[in-house]
Amino acid sequence: MSELDFYKDKRVFVTGHTGFKGTWLCHILLKAGATVSGYALEPESGLYGQTRLQSQIHSVIGDVRDETKLSTAMDEARPDVVFHLAAQALVRRSYREPALTYTTNVLGTVNVLEAIRRTSSVKSFVNITTDKVYENREWRWGYRENERLNGFDPYSNSKSCSELVTGSYRGAFFDESESTAVSTARSGNVIGGGDYSEDRIIPDCVRAVCAGREILVRNPESTRPYQHVLECLYGYLLLAERQYTDKSLTGAYNFGPDEESCVKTGELVALFCTAWGVGAEWRVQGDGGPHEANFLKLDCTKAKTVLGWRPRWTIKTAVEKTVEFAKLDTDVERSACLERQIKEYFV
Ligand SMILES: NC(=O)c1ccc[n+]([C@@H]2O[C@H](COP(=O)([O-])OP(=O)(O)OC[C@H]3O[C@@H](n4cnc5c(N)ncnc54)[C@H](O)[C@@H]3O)[C@@H](O)[C@H]2O)c1
Repeated sequence: MSELDFYKDKRVFVTGHTGFKGTWLCHILLKAGATVSGYALEPESGLYGQTRLQSQIHSVIGDVRDETKLSTAMDEARPDVVFHLAAQALVRRSYREPALTYTTNVLGTVNVLEAIRRTSSVKSFVNITTDKVYENREWRWGYRENERLNGFDPYSNSKSCSELVTGSYRGAFFDESESTAVSTARSGNVIGGGDYSEDRIIPDCVRAVCAGREILVRNPESTRPYQHVLECLYGYLLLAERQYTDKSLTGAYNFGPDEESCVKTGELVALFCTAWGVGAEWRVQGDGGPHEANFLKLDCTKAKTVLGWRPRWTIKTAVEKTVEFAKLDTDVERSACLERQIKEYFV
């Protein structure tokens, strides 16, 4: 894991550390030798507890809408690097609770940026948004970073707002050469071991097969930039490192799969069934749910040329790694699997 040497002895603050991606990120940072602090809501049952992350980092349970508590936590952590992942991250929930989604995702971002302004130790900040920040035109080609931001549903739109807020702060408050390097990272739909979220396709598949049910797929024809969680986390880590020493690199970056791994949801589920083996079957069942984009791809030329990032696992490998984890029975096995997959991924 020498490519993560930069993080050895660095102090890193992660918001959303109790969630799916946050837990994976903290484990990578720990393996790299960083001192990790986290700030998020209480964990729901899932990867955070299964892998006993709490005992390995400094964890503060708090709300990103609580500016004072967040600011105090960051001040105490004195981080070199901050990753902001805390969010209401579910599209369907955002239709049910739009105000909560906007306050968490937009005001939460403002509060993180305000806390950074008051914490002089922070040299590098990456705000994690999503592929859904773009105004979706159902184009066949991938969106580039300079395209119009205007997500459709409240989740996507709140993340577009979070991008705008970050861009404004970068220009208005972090322009000096000595100030914090501020960027945003837009990644695709992530899959991987330990995601138990509602209304996400792979967790839905795992729940169905474990209950002996057929997998029901709402939109088999929709194309999404599915990728393994380690792919985008590698991108965030690389971005934070590179801009730490070269502030000219700040901006927005897409991190998505290569063209050949950009599959339709039906193809993804078929790969899942093959990887799972006996007992996994699927069929189409529309449920008249809210609007979802049909076609969504990212153009990742910028991350590849500027940062030297590129995806390492095909979508088939990503699904197999996810299934490998999903079939495990005990937390000891899950922790070992997570460690093993991190070691396999990083050089
Ligand atoms: N999973 C994906 O496919 C995907 C794709 C693109 C972008 N993202 C983004 O990555 C980030 C992490 O996503 P995830 O899949 O791990 O989500 P998750 O739901 O598993 O985790 C969300 C985290 O945010 C925290 N959080 C939520 N509301 C909070 C609040 N008010 N105050 C403090 N913490 C709060 C939760 O406690 C949790 O730690 C999010 O910003 C999400 O928008 C996710």
